[in-house]
Amino acid sequence: MKRIQVRVLTDDDKPWLTSMITQNWGSTSIVTAGIVHDTQKLPGFVALDDSKPVGLLCYRIDNEEMEIVVLDCTIEGRGCGTELMYHAEKTAKNYGCQRIKVMTTNDNTNALRFYQKLEYQIAAIRVGAINEYRKKLKPEIATLGFHGIPVRDEIELEKTL
Ligand SMILES: CC(C)(COP(=O)(O)OP(=O)(O)OC[C@H]1O[C@@H](n2cnc3c(N)ncnc32)[C@H](O)[C@@H]1OP(=O)(O)O)[C@@H](O)C(=O)NCCC(=O)NCCS
Repeated sequence: MKRIQVRVLTDDDKPWLTSMITQNWGSTSIVTAGIVHDTQKLPGFVALDDSKPVGLLCYRIDNEEMEIVVLDCTIEGRGCGTELMYHAEKTAKNYGCQRIKVMTTNDNTNALRFYQKLEYQIAAIRVGAINEYRKKLKPEIATLGFHGIPVRDEIELEKTL
């Protein structure tokens, strides 16, 4: 099987990014730790399978810390997520970041497993935070998530580089 390739996200990817993020996350705005991020403006990477985009990662860097704002793959278990994270970590190191963090939600057991296997540790659990974001910042946030679990809490994971 051919390995997943990763390249830097460009303006030409924006229509695809818009449709992918809107489809999976309700709109191109993503809320993490109470902050609304416009994913259209963030740098990132695209994963390609035979030149076809199959995954994306958007990040931001602030205060010697990288935050993964979006990670989304259309194919699972083929190394797409791992490759994207590898490129993000390499970039974080190049920028002199000390830490890399990522948020997920209580229903996303797959992401919790994925990040922890990549040596990310749970750093904070914001109980009920997603309910608040839905009420005040982003009504499109789904009420039911993976496995039919109500989406309520935000879980922050981090890795020291
Ligand atoms: C969570 C997510 C990013 C993981 O991405 P993924 O591409 O499935 O992850 P990978 O394939 O890199 O790794 C997953 C597993 O495949 C294995 N794997 C890695 N490379 C592989 C390859 N070339 N072939 C087969 N398996 C491989 C990994 O070892 C890992 O094994 P594990 O299941 O025992 O842990 C993906 O499921 C996803 O996009 N989910 C929906 C969006 C989401 O939840 N995003 C995170 C929100 S914060």
